Amino acid sequence: MSRPAPTTTLAGFEIFEGYLDGPAQAALVDDLREVARRAPFFAPRTRFGKAMSVRMTSAGRYGWFTDARGYRYIDTHPEGTAWPPIPEGVLAVWCDLVGAARLPDCCLVNYYGEGARMGLHQDRDEADFDWPVLSISLGDEALFRVGGKDRRDPTRSIWLRSGDVVVMGGDARLAYHGIDRIKFGTSTLLPQGGRINLTLRVVD
Ligand code: SIN
Ligand code: MN
Repeated sequence: MSRPAPTTTLAGFEIFEGYLDGPAQAALVDDLREVARRAPFFAPRTRFGKAMSVRMTSAGRYGWFTDARGYRYIDTHPEGTAWPPIPEGVLAVWCDLVGAARLPDCCLVNYYGEGARMGLHQDRDEADFDWPVLSISLGDEALFRVGGKDRRDPTRSIWLRSGDVVVMGGDARLAYHGIDRIKFGTSTLLPQGGRINLTLRVVD
């Protein structure tokens, strides 16, 4: 099966607008409910002690974590339980757009409530940057800002909507990116409103 073409490419970020239709999005939300039951969302703090505005959990072999010791991947949920497996429907998106040669070992789940944002950052806690990071947007619209490999590089922004998928590989793999804001209440996918973003990562 050939790989679908991105609908937009922005500074090397490949964007697949409307990749997941409504029923596929709803099915993923059901799967994520089970993930959150087994690995409850928590409020992460950066190494500077600052509370992040997103709430977070993970699925897979590793989960992403941050506290006073800094950013890292950990084997278990902060409460000590194993991270649940990455749902099949999520892995299917990876297999379609990245391939099945190597599956991701972390699916980071970020929940953006009203007013939540994610500052401009690079994803660089993984061992091998040859593997892309794949992001799936569910729920409210979000303003995604992308730049270059240097924090001072010029940035551009694009609205991500529910069902959109972004592949951050190649030149975009170490590019700065972040979420400036969400438009709360623009989607009815999540009963409580807000946005869920999944990022799939090869960690080891
Ligand atoms: C991230 O960079 O980890 C999240 C990006 C997003 O929420 O779309
Ligand atoms: Mn990121």
